[in-house]
Amino acid sequence: MIIALDGPAASGKGTLARRLAAHFDLPHLDTGLLYRATARSLMDAGERLDNERRAEEAARGLALMDFDEEHLRGREMGEAASVVAAIPAVRAALFDMQQAFATRPEGAVLDGRDIGTVICPQAQVKIFVTASPETRANRRAIELAKRGEKVDYAAVLDDIRKRDERDSHRSSAPLVAAADAVLLDTTHLDIEAALKAALDIVAEKAGLRA
Ligand code: DC
Repeated sequence: MIIALDGPAASGKGTLARRLAAHFDLPHLDTGLLYRATARSLMDAGERLDNERRAEEAARGLALMDFDEEHLRGREMGEAASVVAAIPAVRAALFDMQQAFATRPEGAVLDGRDIGTVICPQAQVKIFVTASPETRANRRAIELAKRGEKVDYAAVLDDIRKRDERDSHRSSAPLVAAADAVLLDTTHLDIEAALKAALDIVAEKAGLRA
């Protein structure tokens, strides 16, 4: 079974993906990390994020085990990832790795922006996770504060709106719900309630509870 979760920044899709993967004992890929790692690699090499050729090389040079999540989760990295993710050659360079992960015989859970539309259009279960920008900014601010980052709520909300705009309006694989995705709005749900709703969707789509 492939479970595809897409949605905007801080919608809760990452946490849900991890919990679903644990529940069904499936491998999980947070595809945002691929774009974050590509951006990190460019920044470490002193390159501009909009240098398309270098960005493609950086994406092709990634290996899944290279990821130091701690360094990829900061506030500036989300924004940087969104910039490189708008480059079609970067998306093309990361395509095979994601598809290979998704088509493992045991199945997989992937979360991102284009999983249900581009990477795994064949996924049995597609969930488009949303929440209001204010709720998402709140969650992100709490997460960043826990990491020890100085947090300005207004700046975080501004980041979220900017990223929504860029991720939804780029020409290549924009953030959009697949026609057969089930919408899950987590604005008023805590993680346990969101997980229960997601499990109900899996049960309905794939006939699976555990
Ligand atoms: O999910 P995230 O916040 O870690 O993603 C960071 C950025 O990477 C996001 O703003 C857009 C990009 N991204 C993408 O374009 N496609 C994906 N499948 C995953 C992330």
